Amino acid sequence: MIPRETFDRGRYSNRVFSGSLSALWKQNCSGEFECESSAPGRINLIGEHTDYNQGFVFPAAISRRTRGLFRISTRMNLYSNPIGPAANLQNFDNIPTRGWTRYVAACAHAIRDELNAFPPLLEGVLDSDLPSGSGLSSSAALEICLISAWNALCKFNLTPEKIAEIAWIAETRYVGVNCGKMDQLAVACGKRAHAMFIDTRSLQFEHVPIPAGIALVVLDTCKSRALAASAYNERVAQCRSAAETLGKTSLRDATLHELESARKRGMDETVYKRARHVITENERVLQFRVALQEADFKKIGELCRQSHESLRNDYNVSSPELDAMARSAWNAPGCIAARLTGAGFGGCCVALVHSDKFKNFERSVKASYGMYAFPVPAIWRVDADDGAKAFLR
Ligand code: GLA
Repeated sequence: MIPRETFDRGRYSNRVFSGSLSALWKQNCSGEFECESSAPGRINLIGEHTDYNQGFVFPAAISRRTRGLFRISTRMNLYSNPIGPAANLQNFDNIPTRGWTRYVAACAHAIRDELNAFPPLLEGVLDSDLPSGSGLSSSAALEICLISAWNALCKFNLTPEKIAEIAWIAETRYVGVNCGKMDQLAVACGKRAHAMFIDTRSLQFEHVPIPAGIALVVLDTCKSRALAASAYNERVAQCRSAAETLGKTSLRDATLHELESARKRGMDETVYKRARHVITENERVLQFRVALQEADFKKIGELCRQSHESLRNDYNVSSPELDAMARSAWNAPGCIAARLTGAGFGGCCVALVHSDKFKNFERSVKASYGMYAFPVPAIWRVDADDGAKAFLR
């Protein structure tokens, strides 16, 4: 069974687990469950929009999770708390075009593609204390929770990396977001008290300890991401076009010097700015890695601020709420670093804060963000956590 402390229920504001999963099971399913599975959300400390450019990223799996109980069944019967039953999903013939069930069907199709057969139908219940649409990878958490459950139930023997790969296929091929692999790798392969430095070209990663005394803080603007999928895919296409103009397979290989020359030769100005973000962000991730190892808080703060500004000015994925939140955090006591995290277009900022100053930090951010006429934000501490886990009963 999964250790209880993993679920840390009720400590956070906003979305909390409603109660026990086994009670949900009794209300909605028949027989006994055979597998318990869970997968975390993720924050990204730095390295935004670099993963589909074969660049560097620095995420961490977090202590908010999607979890479920499952058994193999002759019919599909999934219930997600608090949304309700998966009414539009009886089998995997079609992939629903919206709602959470599309991710379930997308995973089944991705498993079919990789393992040559659809996985069995499932009965199960799901719950999560991870807010959805906030840029914390709730979709990857759902997908990886399910694929991990199938892996355990069917004894597929998939490695966490392979589970991440299948979830990525589900997202890109069947959900239609042309994302990189950061979220899936962080959710499947995260490690408690560590962040992950990932080279998204080789897919090699290294777990890097979070120095003692640093609190990881999620600053949720509670403003859902608007038009995120189409705007995201547009950024992916702009990066491809930049790489092509520069004669590179990906922006990972481009230098600022080459980019400036292309600009002089008439490169589209928007495409130029997108590429400038990616090239400078990759460099910031490398510097961040060293700064974190050396606990150089000043450098960490500068790099995160530059990252946020580049995402705002060059990549155009920030929002008035995210800018106000980052500013509020930068001016708050105890703040080491803050920036928007995830794809942007709404969602959350992440902050690194001196643990002993967290209460003052929180008070100050609430007061200064409260000066703007935005919805009330949710501010919560998270721990870096282990990746997905699934256990047979
Ligand atoms: C989303 C995508 C990731 C990554 C981030 C931006 O979370 O799923 O692959 O591109 O946006 O860094």
